[in-house]
Amino acid sequence: MRKKIVAGNWKMNKTLQEGLELAKEVNSKVKANHAKEVTVVIGTPFIHLSEVSKVVDPDIVAISAQNCATEASGAYTGEVSAAMIASTGSRYVILGHSERRSYYGETDEILAKKVERALENNLEIIFCVGEVLAERENGKHFEVVESQLVNGLFNLTAEQFSHIVIAYEPVWAIGTGKTASSAQAEEMHAFIRKTIAGKYGQEVAEATSILYGGSCNPKNADELFSQPDVDGGLIGGASLKSDDFIAIVKARQNH
Ligand code: 13P
Repeated sequence: MRKKIVAGNWKMNKTLQEGLELAKEVNSKVKANHAKEVTVVIGTPFIHLSEVSKVVDPDIVAISAQNCATEASGAYTGEVSAAMIASTGSRYVILGHSERRSYYGETDEILAKKVERALENNLEIIFCVGEVLAERENGKHFEVVESQLVNGLFNLTAEQFSHIVIAYEPVWAIGTGKTASSAQAEEMHAFIRKTIAGKYGQEVAEATSILYGGSCNPKNADELFSQPDVDGGLIGGASLKSDDFIAIVKARQNH
């Protein structure tokens, strides 16, 4: 069966000291109600990765980066490679977040290269897709998400694709307090699964975890996670407070 995952994306928040405190709190609270069937991930800024990996139990909380370089190594000032990320003990990397796509010009082609680098370094990838409001209003949301999947990921082999987790994050729901309804989330998640099945077959599609992200919080998590194709969440704002994040983890455990 596919994994149930609750992943925090801290984005550009928390100093190192604050991040270590939060990571310790998350670790101890997850440990206190450990349910093995939910994988808990925290996605920290790069500079936190190696320190955070010393204060969390890898069997309890997995660590993720939020980006990686397109190139393996060399003269790329300011970049952080997938090998460096893996060397900190991080197991995951978030790629294709809408903030990376829109503020830093990350195209599908750039993302396909990042995916390759991450896989070469045995990282699991949380690959984000999602439409902006105008695309939904114009009825283009399925088309947009399909092309993000095809162009970013569908050059992979089925074995490589087994290291991909999809996060559906409608851009209009990110940081806005406006969540997709559970019906809207389920409709898109089912579409994503069908698109994966069309490329890799039903078995691969059934094994792929598809997370929802966008103003997911302790109040709406239960309803979102009750949907059959919503396997978990990618949590922004609510991952910055351990109590809120743990409440979302518990909501995932309860289904
Ligand atoms: P919010 O939960 O703050 O809306 O952010 C969602 C997100 O972008 C997670 O990657």
